[in-house]
Amino acid sequence: SPLMALLRDMPKAELHIHIEGSLEPELIFALAERNQVELPYADVAALRRAYAFTDLQSFLDIYYAGASVLLHEQDFYDMARAYLARAVRDHVVRAEIFFDPQTHTARGVPMASVINGLYRACREAERDWGISCDLILCFLRHLSEEEALVTLAQAMPLRDRFIGVGLDSSELGHPPEKFARVFARCRALGLRLVAHAGEEGPPAYIWSALDVLQVERVDHGVQALQDAALVQRLARERIALTVCPLSNQMLQVFPDLADHNLPQLLEAGLVATVNSDDPAYFGGYINENFVQLFAATGMGARQAYQLARNSLQASFAGAASKAAWM
Ligand code: HPA
Ligand code: ZN
Repeated sequence: SPLMALLRDMPKAELHIHIEGSLEPELIFALAERNQVELPYADVAALRRAYAFTDLQSFLDIYYAGASVLLHEQDFYDMARAYLARAVRDHVVRAEIFFDPQTHTARGVPMASVINGLYRACREAERDWGISCDLILCFLRHLSEEEALVTLAQAMPLRDRFIGVGLDSSELGHPPEKFARVFARCRALGLRLVAHAGEEGPPAYIWSALDVLQVERVDHGVQALQDAALVQRLARERIALTVCPLSNQMLQVFPDLADHNLPQLLEAGLVATVNSDDPAYFGGYINENFVQLFAATGMGARQAYQLARNSLQASFAGAASKAAWM
Protein backbone atom coordinates (compact mmCIF):
# COMPACT_ATOMS: atom_id res chain seq x y z
CA SER A 1 0.00 0.00 0.00
CA PRO A 2 1.08 3.65 -0.38
CA LEU A 3 1.37 4.06 3.41
CA MET A 4 3.66 1.05 3.78
CA ALA A 5 5.77 2.30 0.84
CA LEU A 6 6.03 5.70 2.53
CA LEU A 7 7.14 4.10 5.81
CA ARG A 8 9.82 2.07 4.02
CA ASP A 9 11.10 4.76 1.66
CA MET A 10 11.11 7.91 3.80
CA PRO A 11 14.54 9.08 5.02
CA LYS A 12 14.89 8.45 8.75
CA ALA A 13 17.35 8.40 11.65
CA GLU A 14 17.83 5.38 13.89
CA LEU A 15 18.68 6.60 17.40
CA HIS A 16 18.23 3.42 19.48
CA ILE A 17 20.12 0.42 18.17
CA HIS A 18 22.43 -1.76 20.30
CA ILE A 19 25.03 -3.04 17.87
CA GLU A 20 25.36 -6.31 19.83
CA GLY A 21 21.61 -6.70 19.31
CA SER A 22 22.14 -6.69 15.54
CA LEU A 23 24.15 -9.94 15.70
CA GLU A 24 22.12 -12.41 13.64
CA PRO A 25 22.22 -16.09 14.72
CA GLU A 26 24.07 -17.01 11.51
CA LEU A 27 26.84 -14.49 12.30
CA ILE A 28 26.96 -15.67 15.94
CA PHE A 29 27.68 -19.21 14.73
CA ALA A 30 30.17 -18.07 12.07
CA LEU A 31 32.12 -16.04 14.66
CA ALA A 32 31.94 -18.88 17.20
CA GLU A 33 33.59 -21.14 14.64
CA ARG A 34 36.17 -18.51 13.58
CA ASN A 35 37.10 -17.79 17.23
CA GLN A 36 36.74 -21.33 18.61
CA VAL A 37 34.12 -20.19 21.16
CA GLU A 38 31.83 -22.90 22.61
CA LEU A 39 28.11 -21.99 22.52
CA PRO A 40 25.42 -23.63 24.70
CA TYR A 41 23.24 -24.11 21.57
CA ALA A 42 23.65 -26.89 18.99
CA ASP A 43 22.83 -24.80 15.94
CA VAL A 44 21.11 -21.68 14.57
CA ALA A 45 17.66 -23.24 14.94
CA ALA A 46 18.25 -24.14 18.60
CA LEU A 47 19.49 -20.61 19.30
CA ARG A 48 16.43 -19.08 17.61
CA ARG A 49 14.16 -21.31 19.69
CA ALA A 50 15.66 -19.70 22.84
CA TYR A 51 14.34 -16.28 21.70
CA ALA A 52 11.12 -16.55 23.74
CA PHE A 53 11.26 -13.65 26.17
CA THR A 54 9.06 -12.88 29.17
CA ASP A 55 10.71 -9.63 30.27
CA LEU A 56 13.87 -7.53 29.85
CA GLN A 57 16.09 -9.79 31.98
CA SER A 58 15.16 -12.97 30.09
CA PHE A 59 16.32 -11.22 26.91
CA LEU A 60 19.53 -9.79 28.40
CA ASP A 61 20.72 -13.26 29.52
CA ILE A 62 20.60 -14.53 25.91
CA TYR A 63 21.89 -11.26 24.42
CA TYR A 64 25.05 -11.37 26.57
CA ALA A 65 25.56 -15.06 25.67
CA GLY A 66 25.37 -14.16 21.96
CA ALA A 67 27.93 -11.37 22.39
CA SER A 68 30.47 -13.84 23.83
CA VAL A 69 31.65 -14.75 20.30
CA LEU A 70 33.05 -11.22 19.75
CA LEU A 71 36.81 -11.24 20.44
CA HIS A 72 38.77 -9.34 17.79
CA GLU A 73 38.58 -5.92 16.15
CA GLN A 74 37.50 -7.59 12.89
CA ASP A 75 34.50 -9.21 14.64
CA PHE A 76 33.22 -5.79 15.77
CA TYR A 77 33.83 -4.41 12.28
CA ASP A 78 31.94 -7.28 10.61
CA MET A 79 28.96 -6.90 12.98
CA ALA A 80 28.66 -3.14 12.43
CA ARG A 81 29.24 -3.41 8.67
CA ALA A 82 26.33 -5.86 8.41
CA TYR A 83 24.02 -3.60 10.47
CA LEU A 84 24.89 -0.48 8.46
CA ALA A 85 24.33 -2.26 5.12
CA ARG A 86 20.89 -3.30 6.41
CA ALA A 87 20.11 0.21 7.69
CA VAL A 88 20.93 1.75 4.29
CA ARG A 89 18.34 -0.58 2.68
CA ASP A 90 15.75 0.82 5.16
CA HIS A 91 16.60 4.42 4.07
CA VAL A 92 18.32 5.24 7.36
CA VAL A 93 20.38 8.38 6.62
CA ARG A 94 21.69 8.76 10.17
CA ALA A 95 22.48 6.03 12.76
CA GLU A 96 23.57 6.62 16.37
CA ILE A 97 24.85 3.24 17.49
CA PHE A 98 25.00 2.03 21.10
CA PHE A 99 27.73 -0.37 22.18
CA ASP A 100 28.32 -2.12 25.52
CA PRO A 101 32.10 -2.18 26.12
CA GLN A 102 31.85 -3.79 29.56
CA THR A 103 30.30 -6.93 28.02
CA HIS A 104 33.58 -7.35 26.14
CA THR A 105 36.28 -5.93 28.44
CA ALA A 106 34.98 -8.30 31.17
CA ARG A 107 36.04 -11.18 28.87
CA GLY A 108 39.52 -9.71 28.32
CA VAL A 109 38.78 -7.97 25.00
CA PRO A 110 40.77 -4.72 24.79
CA MET A 111 38.68 -1.51 24.68
CA ALA A 112 40.59 -0.48 21.54
CA SER A 113 39.49 -3.64 19.67
CA VAL A 114 35.83 -2.83 20.38
CA ILE A 115 35.92 0.87 19.52
CA ASN A 116 38.33 0.69 16.56
CA GLY A 117 36.36 -2.08 14.83
CA LEU A 118 33.05 -0.24 15.21
CA TYR A 119 34.61 3.10 14.28
CA ARG A 120 36.16 1.74 11.07
CA ALA A 121 32.79 0.28 10.02
CA CYS A 122 31.16 3.70 10.57
CA ARG A 123 33.75 5.62 8.53
CA GLU A 124 33.66 3.07 5.69
CA ALA A 125 29.83 3.10 5.58
CA GLU A 126 29.87 6.89 5.31
CA ARG A 127 32.37 6.63 2.45
CA ASP A 128 30.72 3.67 0.65
CA TRP A 129 27.00 4.36 1.14
CA GLY A 130 26.64 7.99 2.27
CA ILE A 131 24.96 7.11 5.59
CA SER A 132 26.00 9.30 8.56
CA CYS A 133 26.84 7.37 11.74
CA ASP A 134 28.37 7.82 15.18
CA LEU A 135 28.91 5.71 18.30
CA ILE A 136 27.43 6.04 21.82
CA LEU A 137 29.16 4.15 24.65
CA CYS A 138 26.69 2.60 27.11
CA PHE A 139 27.39 1.82 30.76
CA LEU A 140 25.81 -1.37 32.13
CA ARG A 141 23.55 -0.27 34.98
CA HIS A 142 23.57 -3.67 36.75
CA LEU A 143 27.29 -3.03 37.41
CA SER A 144 28.62 -0.41 39.85
CA GLU A 145 29.34 3.26 39.18
CA GLU A 146 33.00 2.52 40.03
CA GLU A 147 33.08 0.05 37.13
CA ALA A 148 31.50 2.67 34.85
CA LEU A 149 34.21 5.17 35.85
CA VAL A 150 36.93 2.59 35.05
CA THR A 151 35.28 1.96 31.66
CA LEU A 152 35.21 5.69 30.90
CA ALA A 153 38.91 5.96 31.80
CA GLN A 154 39.72 3.01 29.50
CA ALA A 155 37.86 4.72 26.65
CA MET A 156 39.50 8.13 27.10
CA PRO A 157 42.43 7.44 24.73
CA LEU A 158 39.69 6.94 22.07
CA ARG A 159 37.59 9.93 23.15
CA ASP A 160 37.34 11.27 19.59
CA ARG A 161 35.78 8.01 18.31
CA PHE A 162 32.44 8.23 20.17
CA ILE A 163 30.06 11.18 20.56
CA GLY A 164 28.21 10.33 23.73
CA VAL A 165 27.30 7.94 26.52
CA GLY A 166 24.17 6.03 27.49
CA LEU A 167 22.90 3.71 30.19
CA ASP A 168 21.40 0.28 29.53
CA SER A 169 20.86 -3.29 30.84
CA SER A 170 18.61 -4.27 33.79
CA GLU A 171 16.52 -1.22 34.69
CA LEU A 172 14.50 -2.19 37.77
CA GLY A 173 16.54 -1.68 40.96
CA HIS A 174 19.19 0.35 39.10
CA PRO A 175 17.86 3.93 38.93
CA PRO A 176 19.68 6.62 36.94
CA GLU A 177 20.91 8.44 40.07
CA LYS A 178 23.25 5.48 40.74
CA PHE A 179 25.36 6.96 37.88
CA ALA A 180 25.25 10.66 38.85
CA ARG A 181 29.04 11.10 39.17
CA VAL A 182 30.06 9.33 35.96
CA PHE A 183 27.45 11.24 33.92
CA ALA A 184 28.64 14.55 35.46
CA ARG A 185 32.17 13.70 34.37
CA CYS A 186 30.96 12.80 30.84
CA ARG A 187 29.09 16.10 30.63
CA ALA A 188 32.27 17.96 31.58
CA LEU A 189 34.06 16.09 28.78
CA GLY A 190 31.57 17.41 26.22
CA LEU A 191 29.93 14.03 25.58
CA ARG A 192 26.27 13.88 24.53
CA LEU A 193 24.08 12.18 27.19
CA VAL A 194 21.21 9.69 26.88
CA ALA A 195 19.84 6.94 29.15
CA HIS A 196 17.33 4.12 29.04
CA ALA A 197 14.48 5.02 31.40
CA GLY A 198 10.82 4.09 31.64
CA GLU A 199 11.03 0.85 29.64
CA GLU A 200 10.02 -1.38 32.58
CA GLY A 201 10.88 1.22 35.23
CA PRO A 202 8.58 3.91 36.70
CA PRO A 203 8.23 7.59 35.70
CA ALA A 204 10.50 8.43 38.67
CA TYR A 205 13.41 6.94 36.69
CA ILE A 206 12.65 9.29 33.78
CA TRP A 207 12.58 12.27 36.16
CA SER A 208 16.01 11.34 37.57
CA ALA A 209 17.47 10.71 34.11
CA LEU A 210 16.48 14.32 33.31
CA ASP A 211 17.20 16.01 36.65
CA VAL A 212 20.21 14.05 37.91
CA LEU A 213 21.91 12.76 34.75
CA GLN A 214 20.74 15.72 32.59
CA VAL A 215 20.20 13.52 29.55
CA GLU A 216 19.22 15.09 26.20
CA ARG A 217 17.05 12.13 25.08
CA VAL A 218 15.30 9.29 26.90
CA ASP A 219 15.59 5.75 25.48
CA HIS A 220 12.18 4.00 25.55
CA GLY A 221 10.40 6.36 27.98
CA VAL A 222 7.02 4.77 27.23
CA GLN A 223 6.06 4.73 30.95
CA ALA A 224 6.02 8.57 30.90
CA LEU A 225 2.34 8.53 30.02
CA GLN A 226 1.53 7.47 33.60
CA ASP A 227 2.64 10.93 34.85
CA ALA A 228 0.94 14.04 33.43
CA ALA A 229 3.49 16.46 34.89
CA LEU A 230 6.30 14.45 33.30
CA VAL A 231 4.55 14.46 29.91
CA GLN A 232 4.30 18.27 30.18
CA ARG A 233 8.02 18.56 31.00
CA LEU A 234 9.06 16.28 28.09
CA ALA A 235 6.83 18.16 25.67
CA ARG A 236 7.88 21.66 26.76
CA GLU A 237 11.62 20.82 26.61
CA ARG A 238 11.21 18.76 23.42
CA ILE A 239 13.06 15.79 24.96
CA ALA A 240 12.92 12.97 22.42
CA LEU A 241 11.82 9.44 23.33
CA THR A 242 13.49 6.66 21.31
CA VAL A 243 10.64 4.13 21.26
CA CYS A 244 11.14 0.52 20.10
CA PRO A 245 7.78 -1.09 19.26
CA LEU A 246 8.82 -4.68 18.45
CA SER A 247 11.14 -4.73 21.50
CA ASN A 248 8.24 -3.58 23.68
CA GLN A 249 6.06 -6.32 22.24
CA MET A 250 8.66 -9.10 22.61
CA LEU A 251 9.59 -8.11 26.20
CA GLN A 252 5.90 -7.92 27.16
CA VAL A 253 5.84 -4.18 27.85
CA PHE A 254 2.97 -4.03 25.33
CA PRO A 255 2.25 -7.70 24.56
CA ASP A 256 -0.12 -6.64 21.77
CA LEU A 257 1.22 -4.00 19.36
CA ALA A 258 -2.35 -2.75 18.89
CA ASP A 259 -2.13 -1.53 22.52
CA HIS A 260 1.18 0.30 22.06
CA ASN A 261 0.98 3.88 23.35
CA LEU A 262 3.03 5.55 20.61
CA PRO A 263 -0.10 7.13 19.06
CA GLN A 264 -0.88 8.72 22.44
CA LEU A 265 2.72 9.89 22.88
CA LEU A 266 2.46 11.78 19.58
CA GLU A 267 -1.01 13.05 20.46
CA ALA A 268 0.44 14.48 23.70
CA GLY A 269 2.96 16.46 21.66
CA LEU A 270 6.01 14.39 22.59
CA VAL A 271 9.01 14.02 20.27
CA ALA A 272 8.62 10.26 19.85
CA THR A 273 10.72 8.25 17.37
CA VAL A 274 10.63 4.65 16.10
CA ASN A 275 13.70 2.42 16.44
CA SER A 276 14.68 -1.26 16.41
CA ASP A 277 16.61 -1.69 19.76
CA ASP A 278 17.95 -5.23 19.09
CA PRO A 279 16.71 -6.15 15.60
CA ALA A 280 18.28 -9.63 15.40
CA TYR A 281 16.41 -10.64 18.57
CA PHE A 282 13.08 -8.83 18.25
CA GLY A 283 12.01 -9.83 14.76
CA GLY A 284 12.80 -6.82 12.63
CA TYR A 285 14.91 -3.85 11.60
CA ILE A 286 13.61 -0.28 11.71
CA ASN A 287 11.25 -0.49 8.71
CA GLU A 288 9.67 -3.66 10.10
CA ASN A 289 9.05 -1.70 13.34
CA PHE A 290 7.31 1.07 11.37
CA VAL A 291 5.26 -1.30 9.21
CA GLN A 292 4.04 -3.56 12.02
CA LEU A 293 3.29 -0.62 14.36
CA PHE A 294 1.27 1.25 11.73
CA ALA A 295 -0.59 -1.91 10.66
CA ALA A 296 -1.54 -2.61 14.29
CA THR A 297 -2.48 0.92 15.42
CA GLY A 298 -4.05 2.44 12.32
CA MET A 299 -1.80 5.51 12.28
CA GLY A 300 -1.48 7.27 8.92
CA ALA A 301 0.77 9.38 6.70
CA ARG A 302 0.65 12.41 9.01
CA GLN A 303 2.17 10.37 11.87
CA ALA A 304 4.69 8.79 9.51
CA TYR A 305 6.07 12.17 8.44
CA GLN A 306 6.03 13.35 12.05
CA LEU A 307 8.05 10.34 13.25
CA ALA A 308 10.63 10.69 10.46
CA ARG A 309 10.99 14.43 11.12
CA ASN A 310 11.28 13.79 14.88
CA SER A 311 14.09 11.28 14.35
CA LEU A 312 16.17 13.62 12.17
CA GLN A 313 15.57 16.59 14.48
CA ALA A 314 16.41 14.64 17.65
CA SER A 315 19.64 13.25 16.21
CA PHE A 316 23.04 14.56 17.26
CA ALA A 317 24.01 15.29 13.65
CA GLY A 318 25.18 18.79 12.77
CA ALA A 319 22.76 21.53 11.73
CA ALA A 320 23.95 21.45 8.10
CA SER A 321 23.27 17.70 7.78
CA LYS A 322 19.82 18.08 9.34
CA ALA A 323 18.95 20.91 6.95
CA ALA A 324 19.98 18.74 3.99
CA TRP A 325 17.80 15.81 5.16
CA MET A 326 14.68 17.87 5.95
N1 HPA B 1 16.94 -2.26 27.57
C1 HPA B 1 18.00 -2.30 28.37
N2 HPA B 1 19.17 -2.77 27.98
C2 HPA B 1 19.30 -3.22 26.72
C3 HPA B 1 18.25 -3.19 25.85
C4 HPA B 1 17.00 -2.67 26.30
O1 HPA B 1 15.98 -2.59 25.58
N3 HPA B 1 18.70 -3.71 24.69
C5 HPA B 1 19.99 -4.02 24.86
N4 HPA B 1 20.37 -3.72 26.10
ZN1 ZN C 1 17.76 -0.39 24.23
